[in-house]
Amino acid sequence: MNSGLDYLKQEHRQFEQLFDQYLNSNDWESKFRTVDQMISIISGHASMEERYVHPLYRKKIGNKEGDFIADRCNLDDQINKELLQFLMDSKPEISIKSNSLDIYDATVKKFMSVEKDHITWEDDVFFPKLKLLCTPEELNDLYNSLMSSLSTNPTHPHPLAPNKPSTGAKILHPLAGIVDRAVDSISDKFSSG
Ligand SMILES: [Fe+2]
Ligand SMILES: [Fe+2]
Repeated sequence: MNSGLDYLKQEHRQFEQLFDQYLNSNDWESKFRTVDQMISIISGHASMEERYVHPLYRKKIGNKEGDFIADRCNLDDQINKELLQFLMDSKPEISIKSNSLDIYDATVKKFMSVEKDHITWEDDVFFPKLKLLCTPEELNDLYNSLMSSLSTNPTHPHPLAPNKPSTGAKILHPLAGIVDRAVDSISDKFSSG
C-alpha cells in the first residue's frame, strides 16, 4: 500500500535539491530556470495539501486544534504564494547593472527560508501526527487522490485563489491548472524560438 504522506515527503526532498541547485549556481539564466521549477512544483504541492491533506487533518482532529493547525499551514502557503508570484512577475534584466538582482536573490532566499521551516515542521511534526490518526487505507486513498490530481495541479502560485475546499479550492485549482499549463506551453514555444 502507498502513503500520500510519503509521496509528499519525497517532493520535499526535491524542493531541497532545487534550493541547493539555486545556491550552487553562479549563472543567472540557470538560477531563473531553477526558480521557475520551484514555482511549478511548489505551487502544485501546496494545492494538493490544501485540497487533500489539510481537510483530512481537520476531519481527523475535529476540534479547534484541527482548524488552528490547518489554518496555520494555509498561512505559510499564502505567504509563499505571494513571494512566488513576485519572483514569477519580477525577474530583473540580467544585463542591467543595478541592485535588482541582489533584491531578487534576497527574495528567493526569504522564500526558501519560509519553505524550509515549513517542510521541516511537516516532516517532523505534522505528518507523523496525521499518520497516527489515519489507517493505512486512508493514507493509500490520500495517495490515490494526489496521483489523480498531478496532471491538473496549478503550476503558478495564484495567491488570490481560494485555499480551502469550503471556499471552492477543489473545483477551481484544477481549472487554474489547465490554464497554467496552456500558458506554460505557449511561453515554452516562445522561449525555444
Ligand atoms: Fe505544506
Ligand atoms: Fe509539504
